[in-house]
Order: sequence, then structure tokens, then C-alpha cells
Amino acid sequence: QNPIALMGAMDEEVKLLLDEMEDARSRMVAGITYTRGLLKGLDVVVCRSGVGKVNAAATAQILISEFRARLLIFTGVAGALHPDLEIGDIVISSESMQHDMDASPLGFEPGMIPFQAESIFPADARLVAQAEAACRDEQVRFRTGRILSGDRFVADRKEVERLREEFHGLCTEMEGAAVAQVCRMNELPHVIIRSMSDKANGEAPDSFEAFTQAASTTSVAIVAAMLTAW
Ligand code: ADE
Repeated sequence: QNPIALMGAMDEEVKLLLDEMEDARSRMVAGITYTRGLLKGLDVVVCRSGVGKVNAAATAQILISEFRARLLIFTGVAGALHPDLEIGDIVISSESMQHDMDASPLGFEPGMIPFQAESIFPADARLVAQAEAACRDEQVRFRTGRILSGDRFVADRKEVERLREEFHGLCTEMEGAAVAQVCRMNELPHVIIRSMSDKANGEAPDSFEAFTQAASTTSVAIVAAMLTAW
């Protein structure tokens, strides 16, 4: 049986998973450390990709090609865009897209990847349902919907409005859609789980500092609850 891949971008986002693993063995590929072992009795490989879409895409492909992952769950924090989302709330990806992809001078809609059929990447329906069940079990507030990704930390109220109006995202982060795209290219089931560390507005840098640890813990708790239910 192939392992379940669990990935995050930053140390805070994966440390709690690594702390709980048994029989852990680590291996470095292309500068990223991959740790294989048991979590809740399941064969998993855990890694921290680093921030941004390129790091996320390279790491996801290595999880698939080198570690033969059978599915991928991304855990981490994000900036809330939807007005009803509070710090700590969970967003589960029904789908994701890159908000910074822009070939509009060529006549493509913003966010659409030129000359490519798919630019909005659906998550696996079963993993989404399992994540939702985990949120209910853990009594964590959640929404399921579109996650936006871009190589930009969003910290501006006007930008929040634009991302809401143009792309209808629930939250914004810097890796999810890249991971989702690579998973789709390889026909691997995936889901992105994000807990809100900030509201992507002027207070976002301070809020991110203050709440990334707590929000990461919430996101990991949902992943752990998903694994327990397997
Ligand atoms: N991750 C957490 N908060 C974020 C924000 N405001 N923008 C981009 N990525 C984030």
C-alpha cells in the first residue's frame, strides 16, 4: 500500500504531525526533507515544502513520483476573504485556482492558464466529505469552497474586495492551487485544508504573527481526525 502524503508550507504547519509520528525515517530530495512513518497507525509521508507555488509544485511532484503517494492532504493557514470567516475557522477546498495567473493581454480571463483546458482544480469529493465530517466531529467552524493561491501575501482591504469580486474565493494562500494542479496532472486525489490566521487586510501581518501557531494546530487537528476515521 502506498503512503498518504501530508504536506504544509511552513514548520508550524507540519511540526505537530512530525511530533506524533512513529517509526519515522527522513530522506532529503531536492533540498526538502520527507519523513515517512506511522501516524494514527497509517503509513504517511510528511513534508514542509517552503512557501510559494514553485516550492509547493516541486514538492507535490516528488511526493507522487518518488514516494508513490496514494492521496495528498495539504494543511496550513490562510488569509480569510469571505466576510463571515473568523480567525481559526477552517476552509476546505472544493476547488482552487491561481489568482496571480494573468494573460489578459492575450484575451484570457484573469486566473485562466493560457492554452490549457483546466485552470480551476477540483478537490476529491470523498476527501472533502471526510474533512467536513472531521470538522463536525472536532466542532470547528468551517466552510467548503474555492481557495485562491498566488505568490503574494495579501494584506490590503481593496485587494480582498478585488479577489472576492473577481475570483469568488473564500480565502487566499500561496500553495494550494499549485499542489492541486500537480495532483490533477497525476490523477491523484487531494484536498486543501486551511485555518484562517488573518483576514488579508492591513492587520494581516500582525494577525499572521499572532495566530499562525494556533491556526496551524486547528488545521492539523482536522487532518488527524480524518486519519482516525479511516
Ligand atoms: N497565508 C496566511 N495568510 C495569508 C495572506 N494574507 N496572504 C497570503 N497567504 C497567506
